[in-house]
Amino acid sequence: MFPPSTVAAVSKYQSPAPVLLPDRQWPSRSLTHSPLWASVDLRDGNQALPNPLNPHQKLEYFELLCRIGFKNIEVAFPSASQDDFDFTHRLIREDRIPDDVFIMVLTQCRQHLIARTFESIQGVRQAIFHCYIATSDLHIRQVFDFDRRAVLDQVVGAVTQIRQGAEAMPDSDIRLEFSPEEFTDSDPSFVLELCEAVYRTWSRATSEKPLILNLPATVERRPPNHYADMVEWFCRSFSHPEDVIVSLHSHNDQGMAVAATELALLAGAQRVEGTLFGHGERTGNVDLVTVANNLYSRGIATGLDFSNLPEIAGTVERLTGMPVYYRAPYAGEYVFTAFSGSHQDAIRKGMNRLNEAPEKFGVGWKVPYLHVDPTDLGRRYESLIRINSQSGKGGIVWILEREYGLQPPRPMHPEIGAAVQEYADELGREINASEVYGIFQSTFVNPQGPYRLNGYWPRPDEQDPTLIHGELRLSIEGCEQSITADGNGPVSAFMNGLRLLGISDFSVDDYHEQALGKGADAIAVAYVPLKFEANGVLYGVGTGTNINQAAVNAIVAALNRWSSAHQR
Ligand code: KIV
Ligand code: ZN
Repeated sequence: MFPPSTVAAVSKYQSPAPVLLPDRQWPSRSLTHSPLWASVDLRDGNQALPNPLNPHQKLEYFELLCRIGFKNIEVAFPSASQDDFDFTHRLIREDRIPDDVFIMVLTQCRQHLIARTFESIQGVRQAIFHCYIATSDLHIRQVFDFDRRAVLDQVVGAVTQIRQGAEAMPDSDIRLEFSPEEFTDSDPSFVLELCEAVYRTWSRATSEKPLILNLPATVERRPPNHYADMVEWFCRSFSHPEDVIVSLHSHNDQGMAVAATELALLAGAQRVEGTLFGHGERTGNVDLVTVANNLYSRGIATGLDFSNLPEIAGTVERLTGMPVYYRAPYAGEYVFTAFSGSHQDAIRKGMNRLNEAPEKFGVGWKVPYLHVDPTDLGRRYESLIRINSQSGKGGIVWILEREYGLQPPRPMHPEIGAAVQEYADELGREINASEVYGIFQSTFVNPQGPYRLNGYWPRPDEQDPTLIHGELRLSIEGCEQSITADGNGPVSAFMNGLRLLGISDFSVDDYHEQALGKGADAIAVAYVPLKFEANGVLYGVGTGTNINQAAVNAIVAALNRWSSAHQR
């Protein structure tokens, strides 16, 4: 069945063993409130950029993160480079850190790096000192070439030094974060032992000033349910849960970082580290735009402001030099568009009946194919539907309705759809709203043809006001004809005039009219179907200062369409 090479390749890997947690609670829980958010854009995100941010860009990014509402922002790895050191120090020196924001500084658990990190935060009002060490056997054996005991000793030594450093800064509120790197590839009991040692050694954690225990999926090696089980096990096992915040930090190697984060929140974690749009090493960190807006779309206030997401995305794209993917949830260019005709039609109907949603579904927003309101993210309805040759008439009419206020009657929709699709087919690309409008104008309002109406003057009979005498001047192939005819209304008098001019093999079905605009500036629009004996129905559209003028213009437009079609 499978070629032998495929079988051999699969036996190379093994499914990682899950922790045993038969009484797991997380699957039956729901998220009801927001976690705390920590941005690691300026550290984990920045270190993975092909062109890392320069100090000006870092500052602009930091200010963006503050505006969005992040209260924990990892600004640097100060001992790793002079730039990072200077940036950290500059934020403090220039008093650029809002009062309610804790900057975070990362370091390995090594003496000289810890000392240098402390130098960088001198004078800070408040900060999170974030230290990490890899705890997986893979790292311990292959990278460090020592054993678990040595890791434990190194961590205790590091935390002792950090505690002393914090004690030497009595005017600053220094908190500790500890990350057992590669948590998801580590023995959970060993991680627990380390975290208990960190808690004891730090000895300053309280519910007001909690210790942050950050449990990273440094590389996504497991399915999200394993991560959730490990986090629930950890939360249930840790001795002083009231004094700690359990934090998540997932990477996206298997494309499931968002799912892993959401399940691990159900499992008891209270804080999420990640980046905007998932920047970060390899496949990136968890995308906080997606996680936060997922929660928002379920009615949870997140404290993060993404009400102008296009501006945020534009700024991040400019600073990182990396585009946000077209289909990235919430921010991607295509996420509030529908190319398929049936989707466009359903969106149009749902939007038109949105005011019924509270009564029918008990919510303010319920629209087919759109789980959130694009305007909540600063996105606009006008870009809601994109038109290409696969689009249906529903989406095309939607654009004419939404963008231009036109209300073509339903029987006309197939003709409009066909005209726009023919144009898009020829171009072989997506077309925009103004092109749709242009096609509508040139096909239905001003089509090429032999007829031009130079004037029409309908007036009621002096004895019988229901009788109309209409004088019409019509140019046919450039030659003006003038005639007067009677009818029981302005439009029927016009039709009779056409008949007298020999233009007679059609009739007018019921036509549709609307006012466009308001008050004195309103114009009339008429959508008139001409029924030709041999060729079926063709619509023409006319505008005018009153409905009669609009209707006769529409009749002439339809005649021109018919003539052009006939000449082909
Ligand atoms: O991915 C990771 O494990 C990290 C740690 C330093 C928290 O970035
Ligand atoms: Zn990371």
